[in-house]
Amino acid sequence: MYTVSKFAKDQHQNFSGAEDGSEEVYVNPLRDTHDKRLPRIAGPGGMVIFGVTGDLARKKLLPAIYDLANRGLLPASFALVGYGRREWSKQEFEDYVRKSVESGARTDFRESVWNRLAEGIHFVTGTFVDDEAFDRLAAKLEELDHSRGTASNWAYYLSIPPDSFPDVCHQLDRAGLAQAGEDNWRRVIIEKPFGHDLVSAKELNRIVNSVFPEKSVFRIDHYLGKETVQNILAMRFANQLFDPLWNSHYVDHVQITMAEDIGLGGRAGYYDGIGAARDVIQNHLLQLLALVAMEEPVAFTPEELQAEKIKVLRACEPVRPLSKSTARGQYAAGWQGSNYVPGLREEEGFDPESTTETYAACTLQINSRRWAGVPFYLRTGKRLGRRVTEIALVFKSAPHLPFAETMTTALGQNAMVIRVQPDEGVLMRFGSKVPGSAMEVRDVNMDFSYSEVFTEQSPEAYERLILDALLDEASLFPTNEEVELSWKILDPVIDYWAKRGLPEEYAAGTWGPASADQMLERDGRAWRRP
Ligand code: BG6
Repeated sequence: MYTVSKFAKDQHQNFSGAEDGSEEVYVNPLRDTHDKRLPRIAGPGGMVIFGVTGDLARKKLLPAIYDLANRGLLPASFALVGYGRREWSKQEFEDYVRKSVESGARTDFRESVWNRLAEGIHFVTGTFVDDEAFDRLAAKLEELDHSRGTASNWAYYLSIPPDSFPDVCHQLDRAGLAQAGEDNWRRVIIEKPFGHDLVSAKELNRIVNSVFPEKSVFRIDHYLGKETVQNILAMRFANQLFDPLWNSHYVDHVQITMAEDIGLGGRAGYYDGIGAARDVIQNHLLQLLALVAMEEPVAFTPEELQAEKIKVLRACEPVRPLSKSTARGQYAAGWQGSNYVPGLREEEGFDPESTTETYAACTLQINSRRWAGVPFYLRTGKRLGRRVTEIALVFKSAPHLPFAETMTTALGQNAMVIRVQPDEGVLMRFGSKVPGSAMEVRDVNMDFSYSEVFTEQSPEAYERLILDALLDEASLFPTNEEVELSWKILDPVIDYWAKRGLPEEYAAGTWGPASADQMLERDGRAWRRP
């Protein structure tokens, strides 16, 4: 963290620019004690990205680093080192980063900020098993520590397939890059997928933890970097209004939906054989469930937050029998708006016999006093009707209605819907009198929308998470135990499906397979149609 005592004056200068974007000024954040960014500015350090030519780095990571620099949240001495097989010069890598920043950054492009960032951009050529290349990487980082002032603080971002984690961890260890000293830090940031089941996740954790202590491991779940996801905690624990209702006495069930309209063209290499449950339920949706269902943490610290999430995940399991409590599907060709799109098995690179599910739904229970008897329905799918992620708490109906039955036919169950994306906000649905002489009641919505209430733009999830990792702020990163518990919850469902051949088909542009609707109908409920 940024303190006067630790760093030389020039290191207090951070990337920033004038409000009108025209000229560069150096801001010393220590001057303004009311600046809320003050504790959020990273100290000296740098990042090495493995897998820098991949989609994620190009579309998200590199633009996020520039945006952080542009917002004045990175130190002037920041260095960014790419590692990969390409024979790139510094200039070629710089050009590549600049292109990705120009097309992906959310803040304006400013030459002054870019020039300063670009001075610290370097590339090292090598494979993940090349001793000599990792020795060159070590020499480069040491040189930057002296020339740039990165103070021997390095974060290694592994945006690579998990089967390469062991090689890279081994090499970082061998080249002396993993070990932190008394006054510096070394961290590893790991992208999902973190294994493909409990056994493989444990093995990966063992390998990573044999090189980096757990406190230096930052596992990315980018959903935790989203503003609306963090707002679940603010809503629950900063207000008095909701907590009395947040339990099995009032909540009938919870629906967590992550629907996407995109297909999987171009992602066969990663997705075929993985499927929707492993891709997003194991991580994003179970993290959402944990935040919705956990108890109040003793304090807002990583340890306390993680402890509460772990308790919920430990108490969570699929409802049995799985034949009735789960559903899966695979998209077939269909109309998505005005486009006719191919089915999964016609997508480039997918096995024409692929049994990979693109839709997954499951019913989970949480064995605790607060949630006993409240089903948590999770669903996710590709090529669905529209893109939406939301968490809906559907409340029990009032035990008695003193109105004529004919006057309440349009009254449903009360609901509170946290819209994670798009149209970020929170919606409350309740009954209201219809204007007129009769006592007719129907559902209305009360809607809080981020874009109407706040002028500040939400930072991109990766900006927040990269900055947190540089700041050693671990609250938004799942621990090894959370990852393993999530696999433990999901493994029985995936095993059950594995024995059952092809998933049911659903036409692109619809809301998934019929079996998913039946899954809720059996419980006398229905999915929301957001
Ligand atoms: C990723 C999944 O983790 O999240 C993708 O691998 C998915 O399959 C993506 O499309 C969705 O992220 P977002 O932020 O667009 O909801």
